[in-house]
Amino acid sequence: MNIRTQQQALTAIVADLLVVPVAQGEQNGDDVKSLDRPLDGALHAQIERIKFTGKEGEMLLFQTHARLASSLVLLCGVGKPENSGQESWRRAGGKVQKEARSQSAKQVAWFVTEKSQDITTLAAVAEGALLSSYVFDRYKSEKNGKPVVEILTFVGPHLQKSSQLSNALDMVQKTAPGVFLARDLINEPASVSTPSYLAEHAARIARTGKLTSDIFGPNKMKTAKMAGLLAVAQGSAEEPRFIKLMYKPSGKPKKKIALVGKGLTFDSGGLSLKPPKSMETMKLDMSGGATVLGVMQVIAQLKPQVQVTGYVPATENMPSGTAQRPGDVIRYRNGKTVEVLNTDAEGRLILADALLQAVQEKPDVIIDLATLTGACVTALGGQIAGLFSNNDELADALLQCSKESGEPLWRLPLVKEYKDDIKSSVADIKNVGSGNAGAIAAALFLEEFVSDVPWAHLDIAGPAFAEKDNPYIPRGGVGFGVRTLVRYIMGL
Ligand code: BES
Ligand code: MN
Ligand code: ZN
Repeated sequence: MNIRTQQQALTAIVADLLVVPVAQGEQNGDDVKSLDRPLDGALHAQIERIKFTGKEGEMLLFQTHARLASSLVLLCGVGKPENSGQESWRRAGGKVQKEARSQSAKQVAWFVTEKSQDITTLAAVAEGALLSSYVFDRYKSEKNGKPVVEILTFVGPHLQKSSQLSNALDMVQKTAPGVFLARDLINEPASVSTPSYLAEHAARIARTGKLTSDIFGPNKMKTAKMAGLLAVAQGSAEEPRFIKLMYKPSGKPKKKIALVGKGLTFDSGGLSLKPPKSMETMKLDMSGGATVLGVMQVIAQLKPQVQVTGYVPATENMPSGTAQRPGDVIRYRNGKTVEVLNTDAEGRLILADALLQAVQEKPDVIIDLATLTGACVTALGGQIAGLFSNNDELADALLQCSKESGEPLWRLPLVKEYKDDIKSSVADIKNVGSGNAGAIAAALFLEEFVSDVPWAHLDIAGPAFAEKDNPYIPRGGVGFGVRTLVRYIMGL
């Protein structure tokens, strides 16, 4: 979908579908009135008939029968102005895109009212519209036969073209493909989206985006002593991969950022096997890795003055005669030993290797994303990710970006006293906590591997996968974190 801007009066706009956002109670406002004049009051009559009041989510579709230059008018309720933050604009953009497609409207004009012409609002509408256009129908025999929306034009009499506006819209358009890539990688079944499949995609991102890539198979992993990744992978017939992608700006980077994403392509639990219901969506367990690959693809295009390195440890977690056993001990490269009491707490085992690798390359900041614990889902539900950090400044910056992007994070504490919960009787630490706070225990485990580098851990087990359709996120992989991280990096 192409996004444009144009200055024009409301009644002169030519499009298949003309969208007019209406604030709650403004259904008889000046914009609607001026539209109604060439329509001889027919729009007003329909407003009265269906009692359209501009509540958030309300929509009114009107056939103009050639009395206006646009064949369809869609009034889109956006609620009370004081409640309509960026997130409501994003949702409105999403709903409008869907309605436009169901009406086979290829050219959509979004009328920019005087009250809703700031750049963040328009960028949010564009983002919602773009993100909602994602479909994963590769395995459906019957596809949506309607044409896709080709052009979304922001039009209004007061619309000022500015470089800020075009930059904001450009960023939205360059970020969406990264979100879609992450969604595709997650939505593909685990029989397709394997560690080597992720590695092939990483190599392709590197080629097209001129990034450097380094992909390890089992032999290089052994040389690099990636003990956790090898231990988890030993039960699987699929070979593991360790993926590293690096973007280097020309000139001296302002900062060096390391991104680490859990790339567990299928989590059966291993010998600590999950029950069938819990396994149904466990292809999602590489979502953190998918997000990191998505971000790298976007960064390669946006070219910030920041060095960004993405690390994705990728493997399956399967039960077999060669699988690791509860009670086995892993010795990490830094000498730390871990007793594996539950083979289903595998994410932290593979992330440890990636964090050690990242620390060795001396970044200013490490951010990891992982579908790490069911406990985090219990605590925060399916829409919010847990944020843990050893650095308040980093945590605050991420919270701010997450608020702006509509990918909610909630900070949880790294409770020092709970470190006792991961002490082992035979090794230095164990991979499950003996207390109740499972998400914290997992985060404390990861903290053992980051030295004193400013680090943030996002437990995205809840929001990585949408259980049902949302206005701009269809059911399935979300690509959670791509937009927040791109925003964070671009703001450095
Ligand atoms: N991949 C799961 C976590 C998960 C659960 C992600 C639900 C998405 C939705 C992780 O590897 C796991 O199995 N964690 C265990 C840890 C436990 C054994 C300490 C869990 O949360 O049950
Ligand atoms: Mn698991
Ligand atoms: Zn897992």
